[in-house]
Amino acid sequence: MTVKEIFNSMSYGPAPESRTEAMAWITQNAPFGHWINGKFTDPADGFATKNPATGTQLAQVTQGTAADIDAAVKAARKAQPKWARLPGHKRAAYLYALARLVQKHSRLLAVTETLDNGKPIREARDIDIPLVARHFYYHAGLAQLLTSEQPEMEPLGVCGAVIPWNFPLLMLAWKVAPALAAGNTVVLKPAEYTPLTALLFAQISREAGLPPGVLNVVTGDGATGAALVDHADVNKIAFTGSTEVGRKIRAATAGTGKALTLELGGKSPYIVFDDADLDSAVEGLVDAIWFNGGQVCCAGSRLLVQEGVAERFHAKLRARMDGLRIGDPMDKCIDVGAVVDPVQLAQITAMVDASAGEKYQIPCPEGCFYPPTLITGLGAADPLMQEEIFGPVLVSMTFRTPAEAVELANNTRYGLAASIWTETLNLALDMAPKVKAGVIWINGSNMFDAAAGFGGVRESGFGREGGWEGLLAYLRPKGTARALRPVAAMAEPATPEVSGLDRTAKLYIGGKQARPDGGYSRAVWSSKGKLLGHTGLGNRKDIRNAVEAAHSAKGWGNASAHLRAQILYYIAENLSARADEFATRLKDMTGKSGTDEVEASIARLFSYAAWADKFDGAVKSVPIRGVAMAMNEPCGVIGAICPDEAPLLGMISLMAPAIAMGNTCVLVPSQAYPLAATDFYQVLDTSDVPAGVVNIVTGPHEELAKPLAAHLGVDAMWCFGAKPLSEVVEREAAGNLKRTWVNNGLATDWTNAEGRPFLRAATEVKTIWVPYGE
Ligand code: NAI
Repeated sequence: MTVKEIFNSMSYGPAPESRTEAMAWITQNAPFGHWINGKFTDPADGFATKNPATGTQLAQVTQGTAADIDAAVKAARKAQPKWARLPGHKRAAYLYALARLVQKHSRLLAVTETLDNGKPIREARDIDIPLVARHFYYHAGLAQLLTSEQPEMEPLGVCGAVIPWNFPLLMLAWKVAPALAAGNTVVLKPAEYTPLTALLFAQISREAGLPPGVLNVVTGDGATGAALVDHADVNKIAFTGSTEVGRKIRAATAGTGKALTLELGGKSPYIVFDDADLDSAVEGLVDAIWFNGGQVCCAGSRLLVQEGVAERFHAKLRARMDGLRIGDPMDKCIDVGAVVDPVQLAQITAMVDASAGEKYQIPCPEGCFYPPTLITGLGAADPLMQEEIFGPVLVSMTFRTPAEAVELANNTRYGLAASIWTETLNLALDMAPKVKAGVIWINGSNMFDAAAGFGGVRESGFGREGGWEGLLAYLRPKGTARALRPVAAMAEPATPEVSGLDRTAKLYIGGKQARPDGGYSRAVWSSKGKLLGHTGLGNRKDIRNAVEAAHSAKGWGNASAHLRAQILYYIAENLSARADEFATRLKDMTGKSGTDEVEASIARLFSYAAWADKFDGAVKSVPIRGVAMAMNEPCGVIGAICPDEAPLLGMISLMAPAIAMGNTCVLVPSQAYPLAATDFYQVLDTSDVPAGVVNIVTGPHEELAKPLAAHLGVDAMWCFGAKPLSEVVEREAAGNLKRTWVNNGLATDWTNAEGRPFLRAATEVKTIWVPYGE
């Protein structure tokens, strides 16, 4: 071959990475037990973990039993108080040591990762492992600053982490680094296909002097994961994996009081406008869908390209695909490695084979490999346009206008990430808030950093990893709350005092008073046995109507924060004008003076009027040519079961942060004392609150909590009612994986219940990566 021919074909020989060191480590330690309390347990019955590129066994690992999980949780529990008591600087020093050791052992970790997972060594070496080190460095910093920056917070206790196989060590880092920084201890269950780097990392943690029990690793399959999720002495579950398993975990943890974050699947749109730099967009797409063979939760797997350039773009893309090298992941020149397991390969193959679209594929070696694939000619509802394939398969559709692009982008049950390609920055910044996703990359894709929050909305899960927002998911407010005392409505007296006209307060839906669908009401008695009036008993249909009204008022989220503040002030002003009347009403219903509660309610409205334009986002210092903006976006429609113990203040404490942040809401007010809420809608009516922004459905909490929490049109659900309701709400929320915030039957001090925790619950952080500077 002449030099000219070589230049023309750009063919080059293999450049294999050595596997010697990694295989030596494996041989030395296999068969593997678990890592519990700072050492390996004796290996027991288990399964083989294989190199997917060759199909050969790498090592035998142990299938974790419930007893193994219990031993690990006990070790973690024992180690936790001392770990949490360490000064932040000491924990920072451990995390720093871990970061340094990851760097020191980076080649061994990268090679072991590639052997176990099948990803190209180039990616493991240049992306996964450096990001792991960066994560520990960053969290060493958070540990150092924690006490001064979050003085009111404390660790949760023992955290269970269940992670997938696509980024085995990086997902470990995403869970372990914040958990340890916050003062928690961890039991980690790696994926069954890829347990090796977690075990290697655990062993390395001994070099960092990490105290025994602080980090424990139990290997096994889904049953082991389920045992960890179900363990009674775990305070939090952090999960990354499929939406299906995420849903099971949501249901399994309902009502247990365990904190939960879920990072689930996606079908992320990759939007290319006709003015985009098409060659860069093609390069970006290679990263978006062929990075890690498309086995990436936020893979840009759904190409949406503007009609005028579609043909040209597809042609460029096909030409680029022809140049992709697929094969031995240990070869440093390989672009696409092996699929993690034949089971996953069979799944990808079946999904693509069942599709009628036009397919373009490049040649692919025999074995556990799947060719990079482009599929065109599909409709928006086609299964491949909707379902996560989790392989190197890109589906493509065209659009004409930006509005259509938004519609197509959001035509999915997921909401993890999106890429937007255009040279018109205004267009990109107009699109970014409209696309429903936790992360937006402008003229880029798959950018990650420890400082920038990562996570989804909708069925892509909830919670953020990275940044302060990620750390907060491993903390809770200091102090112990007392159990909530049940509050019963005043009973009908033996000799009721009934006088005056009958007054039956209706529901408040879409800015209008609405008769309850069922046509039933109940009497509300004063503490002195006087009939105060009747309230409607709402049902499932009323909830549906209220959610619909809340949906049609979603434009509230686009109103300026200044306007929202003004309206909150106006509500406060109008409540103040009727303060005596409300105080009397509260006194009649509860038998206690209502003056303070009304005053506190007015002050609370002022607080959130103040916060409306001050709960700022952030610009994150990410180590790339660009910035990552963290924007606080409204969740959407928030459903709330309001407390009984503070009928007016409790309801306002939930409504005000929700609407201040641009949400609309459906409130189920105090069941025992509902009349403060029904009086309150007259205040709303006179305060310029747009119809549908606040909806009020009175009635029994047990009956209304279920349809409200299950409603697919509700984006977040809060519950401050009696204890059993927390479980109902969390279980029902599993349907569309909406975020929940429940009291677990603990009392809230409503006099002081305001500020950031409420604002955080009312918002989702959207991270928008924007090119910036040189
Ligand atoms: P998976 O969701 O079943 O597994 C993820 C982790 O959860 C593993 O450690 C597994 O052992 C554990 N697990 C499974 N069932 C469990 C249960 N009932 N309770 C607790 N833990 C449990 O994902 P899998 O089977 O590996 O892949 C299936 C599909 O999931 C993929 O084809 C892909 O579509 C999606 N997936 C998405 C990921 C993401 O990052 N979003 C990662 C991995 C898979």
